[in-house]
Amino acid sequence: MNELDQLVSSAQADFDAAPTPAELENAKARFLGKAGRVTELLKALGTLPVEQKKARGAEINQAKARIEAGLQACREALAQAELEAQLRAEALDVTLPGRLRGTGGMHPVSRTMERIEAIFASMGFDVAEGPEIETDWMSFTALNNPENHPARSMQDTFYVDMKDAQGRWLNLRPHTSPMQVRYARMHAARHAGKHPMPEIRVIAPGRVFRVDSDATHSPMFHQIEGLWLGANIAFKDLKVVFASLVREFFETDDFDVRFRPSFFPFTEPSAEIDIRFGSGPLAGRWLEVAGSGQVHPNVVRNFGLDPEQQIGFAFGIGADRFAMLRYGIDDLRLMFDGDLRFLKQFN
Ligand code: DAH
Repeated sequence: MNELDQLVSSAQADFDAAPTPAELENAKARFLGKAGRVTELLKALGTLPVEQKKARGAEINQAKARIEAGLQACREALAQAELEAQLRAEALDVTLPGRLRGTGGMHPVSRTMERIEAIFASMGFDVAEGPEIETDWMSFTALNNPENHPARSMQDTFYVDMKDAQGRWLNLRPHTSPMQVRYARMHAARHAGKHPMPEIRVIAPGRVFRVDSDATHSPMFHQIEGLWLGANIAFKDLKVVFASLVREFFETDDFDVRFRPSFFPFTEPSAEIDIRFGSGPLAGRWLEVAGSGQVHPNVVRNFGLDPEQQIGFAFGIGADRFAMLRYGIDDLRLMFDGDLRFLKQFN
């Protein structure tokens, strides 16, 4: 091996031994840099006689080209190794199971409301929804509950510190009963002058709000208001409607319905509706599930209708109570805590 071959192989050995790109560049400098060994040889050409210069120059340049090629190969190998190391470090384990998107489920109260709506719809009731922020007039006055009437304090109402355009105080509706007024007034306006006036048969499900919180009361809960008004609608019709609801909803014939005298300013007479199952885990206990009564003539007048012509009944169902009885839940607060461990049981 001549001296130039030795130079090439010692450069190659140095390049191969360089563990990093920086050290590779240092090794390059030792051969190809300003004071590198190849550069020294080229400088020494000047001292040779002219006839040797050309051949020697060509040899040195050839050796230089081989060294440069070796350097380039090492540079690429180091870059490749670096890239591979980086890819390894940042590797994704595509065999891990993906994060699935949860499929939502229905809340037990929503499920209950939907079922109750479907049952009433099958009995010819319209389903109406209305505002949760109500006027004083809708929540109380129109329902025969005038200012300073003691019954107004029966509901511990959340008031909104604001009046509407007509200067009426606003509240978070403490019951769905204002929907009787809204719906009946709309009906009266739509059918004004018609004889006979078509019947009103409607339910109004929704959220209601009261200053109240314990195992059986929540500051937000759900009611389903009902109103059936016509020329000749009587309490017996209410009993039929309510018994049908209980039969369909609880999927049993083994129960009794009882009307227990009560007081509501918007009905006269008024009654609480209790139900009692003959079998099952709740058997034998009377359970209060709704308020009801014959719509008071003053309220019919506030509907914009004639109490001599229109008679009927109204009721307000505790929807959460229905859900609790149906699913055997004993604490109302569980329904609104949003704990998935609880909620998942219903889906
Ligand atoms: N609004 C009553 C309450 O929240 C429930 C109620 C009772 C509604 C009698 C009615 C009714 O429509 O006729 O306690």
